Amino acid sequence: MCITGASGARYGLKILKELSKDNFVYLLISNNGYVVLDREEKVSKDDIKKLINKNVKLINVRDISSTLASGSRLIETKGVIVAPCSMNTLANIANGVSQNLIHRVCDVALKEKVPLYLLIREMPFSLIHIENMKKVALAGAVVSSASPGFYHNPKTVEDMVNFVVGKVLDFFKVKHSLYKKWRKNEN
Ligand SMILES: Cc1cc2nc3c(=O)[nH]c(=O)nc-3n(C[C@H](O)[C@H](O)[C@H](O)COP(=O)(O)O)c2cc1C
Repeated sequence: MCITGASGARYGLKILKELSKDNFVYLLISNNGYVVLDREEKVSKDDIKKLINKNVKLINVRDISSTLASGSRLIETKGVIVAPCSMNTLANIANGVSQNLIHRVCDVALKEKVPLYLLIREMPFSLIHIENMKKVALAGAVVSSASPGFYHNPKTVEDMVNFVVGKVLDFFKVKHSLYKKWRKNEN
């Protein structure tokens, strides 16, 4: 689970919380991810350390010698989520450039066919962003935008966040009760 410096740090925190209930999670946060966590959520590096428990291991993004950087280790995992994923991180992944461990882990996920889910956030998109999305999608990644639906009648920001997070968890078949799935003629 990787958090980068796009807006929407809350998505990353919520995914981490849900995933780590029943799964072991490696947590990687880019330097700019920490900046946005602090700005948007008032969550500091020390606060993040408090989230570490038997199911969460924090890995330094500069630790390029981490076992996660190797294909043989990554294929043992259920997949990689980058949420939120910045356009900078997307560009690095799309072009096979590994400037930190998040980029490397995503690069390895693509070459080893490990599920890679990018919850991107930007508005609007430039053609460069769109082309980078196309590149990673063709290489096998799931490209998903952090755009909540309204058909479940959200009342709060949390409802909207839960919808997006629920969709990410659905992809990995992680059970949750974050939003009610759409049923025809049901409100
Ligand atoms: C408060 C704040 C919000 C940001 N929101 C976005 C965003 O929504 N999408 C994006 O691509 N970059 C956003 N950025 C810019 C990224 O943080 C910047 O491109 C950075 O280089 C990303 O680095 P990273 O990919 O290593 O995390 C934001 C920056 C700040 C400080």
